[in-house]
Amino acid sequence: MARTMNLVLLVLNAITLYLPAMVTNATPVFVRKGTPIDLGKKFIDGHRILGDGKTFEGLLVGLYFGFIVSFTYMLLQYDFYSTLILYLSCIAAILGDLLGSFIKRRLGLKRGERALLLDQLDFFLASSIVLIIHGLVDYILFIVALVIIVLLHILTNRVAYILGLKNVPW
Ligand code: CTP
Ligand code: MG
Repeated sequence: MARTMNLVLLVLNAITLYLPAMVTNATPVFVRKGTPIDLGKKFIDGHRILGDGKTFEGLLVGLYFGFIVSFTYMLLQYDFYSTLILYLSCIAAILGDLLGSFIKRRLGLKRGERALLLDQLDFFLASSIVLIIHGLVDYILFIVALVIIVLLHILTNRVAYILGLKNVPW
């Protein structure tokens, strides 16, 4: 019983600490069309630097909602320092996402093409660096959050498949 309670608390804690970064990563999807951050430019390998999937508008939307979530925590008794670190984890999430796209383009993958693990973990690993360095997350919380992210990914793909938004359930 006590063990189950501990696990529940760990899961809740992981979700709480990673929520700002997750929201930052998820909300740019609502930007249908925007100005590409790479301004349409190509890298020396002839492929786009980042591609049309990374826009200034998406970046601002992510930063805006990440800010709302992080600073809502202050109303919920989080101290200013932790709130600031949480917001830094949002900025890191964006940088990780950009780096992920940069790597995908170097691998010759087009915008939106799948890169298993890279697609799901780029933002997560980047925000983890900030959260771990500043002591908000330890390795146990990191692993719990990693499992949650992977499970969420599988679940959302299944739901999208069932709803007919995707052709394959993975
Ligand atoms: N998006 C955006 N600006 C960002 C990040 C995301 O406009 N900085 C929007 C784009 O419409 C993008 C969508 O959110 O297509 C989904 O984001 P993501 O999966 O990260 O991009 P992909 O389209 O998969 O592109 P990539 O192959 O570069 O990952
Ligand atoms: Mg993608």
